[in-house]
Amino acid sequence: MASRSDTEKRVPILVVDDDADVRLALEMTLQYQGFEVWTARDGAEALRRIEAEARGGRRAGVVVTDLKMPGIDGLALLERVRALENPPPVVVVSGHGDVATAVDAVKRGAANFLEKPLDAERVLVTIRAALREGKLTAENTRLRKKLVERHELVGASPAMARLRAQVETVATSDASVLITGENGTGKEVVARNIHALSPRADGPFVTVNCAAIPDELIESELFGHEKGSFTGAFERRIGHFEAAEGGTLFLDEIGDMPLAAQAKVLRALETHEIVRVGDSQAIPVDIRVLSATNADLAAATEQKAFRLDLFYRLNVVPLRVPALRERREDVPALAQHFLRDIAARSGRTPLVLEPAASELLAQLDWPGNVRQLKNLLEGACVFANGSEITRADLEQILGAGPALAPIPSPAVMSGALPGGDDPFQAETFEDFKNRSEMAFIQRKLAENGGNVKRTAERLGMQRSHMYKKLDRYGLK
Ligand SMILES: Nc1ncnc2c1ncn2[C@@H]1O[C@H](COP(=O)(O)OP(=O)(O)OP(=O)(O)O)[C@@H](O)[C@H]1O
Ligand SMILES: [Mg+2]
Repeated sequence: MASRSDTEKRVPILVVDDDADVRLALEMTLQYQGFEVWTARDGAEALRRIEAEARGGRRAGVVVTDLKMPGIDGLALLERVRALENPPPVVVVSGHGDVATAVDAVKRGAANFLEKPLDAERVLVTIRAALREGKLTAENTRLRKKLVERHELVGASPAMARLRAQVETVATSDASVLITGENGTGKEVVARNIHALSPRADGPFVTVNCAAIPDELIESELFGHEKGSFTGAFERRIGHFEAAEGGTLFLDEIGDMPLAAQAKVLRALETHEIVRVGDSQAIPVDIRVLSATNADLAAATEQKAFRLDLFYRLNVVPLRVPALRERREDVPALAQHFLRDIAARSGRTPLVLEPAASELLAQLDWPGNVRQLKNLLEGACVFANGSEITRADLEQILGAGPALAPIPSPAVMSGALPGGDDPFQAETFEDFKNRSEMAFIQRKLAENGGNVKRTAERLGMQRSHMYKKLDRYGLK
């Protein structure tokens, strides 16, 4: 016999039967194994018990119910239990001659069935299996909920309410969505929400930052390559399109995709097939494509920098994420959300903003949008003394950044470079170079409104190289 575990002992089993002898027999068998047992005479009493226990925060691990009972019978109880939030598994018990009903119950979602006369060993094996299954289901539900929560779109402004409604609508379809909006407005959060709410939620969500990949590698990154297809291709590699099979492919910074790759992406989207670099065989792919950009793609098509046909394919449903200054009423809720998040990560209670600090937040223009707010608060939490963030804490960070559009640096805030990013605080030459580079890039980025592509162009730097630097200094 399987040994009982500690967790099992604490899980109550709800036994429902109108026959007192059966109730008692089951109760004794289960109690002997260390389970807590709740009993009920019929479906109605069972439901009352479930409700009463739920008020005390307790729930049955498994419901074992007879089928034939007066009033709410086993099948009706099954239906009611299945309608609960996080329903426990239900095992039905059939008397002589109603095995067909028991099978029907399993089809309607019962975990299993037992036949009378009951055999103690079989009862235990069946209940333990149902318990395990119930735990797995609950865990899956919990994880999925957490996933959606983690990508929660905070904000109660009319603009956000509209966006959330649009997200829910497009999530149900397989249509391509082009998400536009300034830097840091939440385009990626929107993409993850669409995926999490879509029928593809159980499949992968694969992000490709088109701007961060050097032009000559983009095709192999997207479609994969065969061994030896180009210098450096030592192994066969699966591309992002194949990796997203059954799920969603998120093409971020799509405006930066080179024209040659655009043609191939278009073909893949039209045929639902890809060809690995260095191969000739077509491989079918089942993916949904979301893309995002902070550039004006329509304008790019006029300048022939972006293919019009691909633009139409990607832009089946356009979604625009409004800038933070267009929905200032979201700032307090977002601030609270981030403060709670920061506190949770360190296991502390959230800091609060003193009124003067909140006022300052309401006045800022947020060129870096939600990301800027988040970074600012992370910095403020480091500087704050006690349980309040003061206006002075915020001003200290805003003042320390580049003059134009202060974007605090998370690398500094997280202490990556002790003493801030002042190059002259450096102790070694290497350190000095890093600090200077970081300060320079930070300032130039701010001067260009956080636009990475434009900054790279103006500095005469490769886009992908710039992204590496941003990663390194935690500036993104
Ligand atoms: N409505 C929101 N609710 C909660 N968090 C948000 C919201 N919008 C953005 N964020 C947070 O702000 C940060 C920036 O968001 P995100 O990366 O989605 O922006 P983006 O538009 O993709 O930026 P970029 O143009 O720079 O790629 C992330 O940390 C994200 O979690
Ligand atoms: Mg993004």
